[in-house]
Amino acid sequence: MERVQAEAKRKTPEELVMIYKGIPYPSCICSEETFCALESLEAREDDLLIVTYPKCGTNWVIRILHEMLFFIGGKEPSIDQAMIEFGKPEKVQALKEASSPRVFSTHLHYKDIPKSFLEKKVKTLLILRNPKDTAVSYFHFSNNNPILPSYDSWDLFFNDYINGKVCYGSFFDHNSAWGEHIDDENIMAMTFEDMKLDYATHLKRISEFFGLSLSEEQLKEIENKTTFKSMKENSEGTHGKLGNTFFRKGEIGDWKSLFSEAQSKEVDAKFEQYLAGTKLGEKLNYKKYCEY
Ligand code: A3P
Repeated sequence: MERVQAEAKRKTPEELVMIYKGIPYPSCICSEETFCALESLEAREDDLLIVTYPKCGTNWVIRILHEMLFFIGGKEPSIDQAMIEFGKPEKVQALKEASSPRVFSTHLHYKDIPKSFLEKKVKTLLILRNPKDTAVSYFHFSNNNPILPSYDSWDLFFNDYINGKVCYGSFFDHNSAWGEHIDDENIMAMTFEDMKLDYATHLKRISEFFGLSLSEEQLKEIENKTTFKSMKENSEGTHGKLGNTFFRKGEIGDWKSLFSEAQSKEVDAKFEQYLAGTKLGEKLNYKKYCEY
């Protein structure tokens, strides 16, 4: 990771981004070669897949699944990689050879998920977060993570976010495409906000969805180990120097610290256009979390 960050510091903001099939990605950790290699990754029936748009709670849920599998199998999953799309193409071979169960995570749009995962109907946990908090989280992350272009102001970031010019493209494209599959039998959608407000119930739902049979005591232990406070305290060990960047505030409603009324209205308009009236839009509980 330190080598990647040193490489990033030598790149111009433009060089930090590569485009693949029309979507921008961080060029220090994503490459066309790896995307091509991923096409041959065969899914297994017992794989576990986490899907998020960036900054919606990916690292939180990865940790939860690792803790759950630790109780089930006595050891953590053999793959401790982050997103399937990160890294060199050779790493795909390591993913192919890893023992089951494999926990995968990704920010990919639905259309770019390796085909075999769709054909095999791999169990997929889709974690959603309201688009305004996601934006603020993404802004701070971009300015503190050298592999992403940084921004001189919130307004400049907002402009790229609302126009889908940030890495992984538009929040709204990502959510509306996944939203079309929200009723697929192998997909369960859950929001960051619901997890925060009723953590115990949602942990249980996650374990049941993946067929992981855990006792109340085990679930309680996992709950304690994966609170924001606990994950932040351990973040230097788990995420090195970027620990505090990954585990920043973990709150609902921080968007009010940066959004102007006009920016809030722009997001409202996008929500109306892409997600209002859809099942995924309903899940986001937009009025409750995004009203100015
Ligand atoms: P903030 O920047 O708003 O604090 P990702 O892992 O997808 O990059 O998401 C990062 C966001 O999830 C950050 O949001 C981070 O603080 C929050 N987060 C991570 N672990 C969390 C936890 N255990 N509880 C609540 N929020 C958490």
